Amino acid sequence: MSEKNYNRYTLTAALPYANGPVHIGHLAGVYVPADIYARYLRLKGKDVAFICGSDEHGVAIELRARKEGVTPQQVVDKYHNQIKDSFGQFGISFDIYSRTSSKTHHDTASEYFKKLYENGKFEERSSEQFYDEKENQFLADRYIKGTCPTCNFPDAYGDQCESCGSTLSPGELINPKSMLSGESPIMKETKHWYFPLNEYEDWLKKWILEDHKEWKPNVSGQCKSWLDNGLRARPMTRDLDWGIPVPVEGAEGKVLYVWFDAPIGYISATKDWAAEKGKNWEDYWKKDDTRLIHFIGKDNIVFHCVIFPALLKAEGNYILPDNVPANEFLNLESNKISTSRNWAVWLHEYLEEFPDKQDVLRYVLTANAPETKDNDFTWKDFQTRNNSELVAIFGNFVNRAIVLTHKYFEGKVPAKGALEARDQEVIDAIKTYPEKIEASMNQFKFREALNHLMDLARTGNKYLADTEPWKLIKTDEARVETIMNLALQIAGSLTILSEPFLPFTAEKLKTMLNQTNIKWDQAGTVDLLDAGQPIEKPILLFEKIEDKTVEGQVQKLMDTKKANEAEAAEPNLTPAKDEIVFDDFMKMDLRVGEILTAEKVEKSNKLLKFTVDTGLDKRTIVSGIAKHFTPEEMVGKKVVVMSNLAPRKIMGIESQGMLLFAENADGSLKAVSPADASENGATIS
Ligand code: 2FM
Ligand code: ZN
Repeated sequence: MSEKNYNRYTLTAALPYANGPVHIGHLAGVYVPADIYARYLRLKGKDVAFICGSDEHGVAIELRARKEGVTPQQVVDKYHNQIKDSFGQFGISFDIYSRTSSKTHHDTASEYFKKLYENGKFEERSSEQFYDEKENQFLADRYIKGTCPTCNFPDAYGDQCESCGSTLSPGELINPKSMLSGESPIMKETKHWYFPLNEYEDWLKKWILEDHKEWKPNVSGQCKSWLDNGLRARPMTRDLDWGIPVPVEGAEGKVLYVWFDAPIGYISATKDWAAEKGKNWEDYWKKDDTRLIHFIGKDNIVFHCVIFPALLKAEGNYILPDNVPANEFLNLESNKISTSRNWAVWLHEYLEEFPDKQDVLRYVLTANAPETKDNDFTWKDFQTRNNSELVAIFGNFVNRAIVLTHKYFEGKVPAKGALEARDQEVIDAIKTYPEKIEASMNQFKFREALNHLMDLARTGNKYLADTEPWKLIKTDEARVETIMNLALQIAGSLTILSEPFLPFTAEKLKTMLNQTNIKWDQAGTVDLLDAGQPIEKPILLFEKIEDKTVEGQVQKLMDTKKANEAEAAEPNLTPAKDEIVFDDFMKMDLRVGEILTAEKVEKSNKLLKFTVDTGLDKRTIVSGIAKHFTPEEMVGKKVVVMSNLAPRKIMGIESQGMLLFAENADGSLKAVSPADASENGATIS
């Protein structure tokens, strides 16, 4: 529990997939809060291991490699280096940024698996899975496409239909096809090692829901819904080429499941870091006086709160995470951030386009962090927060304190004289800030902590505005000495307390003030800077961001939107299908029918339900055409019916056949009907 006295902190930040660059969503969700916390603990003098690295295995990497026509290794090399550089330039202060393709990691994950295997922690199970005979490969769910059984969408994935949102398993797809070869996959038996999560259910329930009531509600809420649904055994191995080979006899051609190997990446990275620093990695993972905290985004909650803790428990020697302060998602200009649609602010581009403005983005992402709910990033808000908060409050106060000291006291810290009530008031006020910020930090409320920090700068501004040293200087220089001393001491506290949030600014402040007292516990005092100590000439901490700058960024996004729309509208005729024999054609019973009734299917915006007179009978047919036709315009139409298609249930309704439509290149549909009057039931051949 957090009240405990810890001697060490292991902080992990989700290992980003090395299949693309990092964007503001990742930063706001994971890396900025993790970095704030790591920097804060270091300032408190704590022993911290802040661990991260690239996640270099899994289907996501393979898919990217296929798309780019390169090897998975080339993909991870490219993105690992890019991600690592951007994090470094952005001031994310990892103690190590490792990668899961490293030898240490392969060995660590492999040994971990072996130990669980030898201790009987897995169940071996065989099942039939899709297999691509042409590529000689079992197919991950994402590698299979077919028609959605719910909404008829032709390009649904094996795990999900992106059109209607249903969760699927590949076996449910109609006419499944391998995305590797385009062929129909066969079912083939394969063996995997399952981790019986169900056996850990009671223990997890107590550990999460009773022993960790302090976890954020968005985190425990997600865990609870998982636990309430009941846990089942999950395979920890996969039939893939790219990954860590399963270190067990009879497992040739299989690799560890990426969600087994990725969190172990935290452990292997700690090993590399400790070896380099001459420390013992086990202290950071196996000692009770170490506090383990995972910083992640909301899509990783169950892996870090349910699956990984159960794997740690199964191993037996590891500590468990004390907290998992996951954030929600950040949207961009009201739309979901999307890598494939290029709807993002990419970190490497920001660093190029806004040189020396890391702290502005860090500030905006913290002030607007999606800590309790999804939030929206807008360029307008970015500009406003910079101009009216960083420039007008923080920068303005520090600048005034330093400029006036140069103007009146030749750039030397003046001594304090007798204190007046207003001085005592400000001294009492600034004393409270370290504690307030700390209380927020300890609850992972970084937005609130940042607000307190800005209040301290506001307090400084108000003190100068109230005491008006620029007026007093003509009559009472001694009084101005006290005022400027206190103003500089406030600036000194800002150096310390802003460091976790605005490290580049804190560094500049430290240099300007020649400040040597920079420990967290020294903040809030008024003896940080000695009387007579010289300070440097002011340098600008923040500058105004002009309208044209943010307008340019918005324009860039608009261009992306246009390009996406143009791509979607591009003619996209379905390619010709494979040849069939005459007998195949003759098997189809195609007839002229007439639509008697038509209505929308409840809870579906795609489906229409028809009664069709086929000449043979009057039957129900469901068709996914609601986006193209209203029920009213269909009634009375002559249509072509494929009448001997096996009936199947769509949204609970049995559909007894299929209506034929012509699909144009732009996706629009036209009903296929006989040009001249024909009887219902007339056959087509
Ligand atoms: O969701 C992701 O981006 C994963 N690569 C996160 C892995 S976190 C951890 F387990 F390493
Ligand atoms: Zn669907």
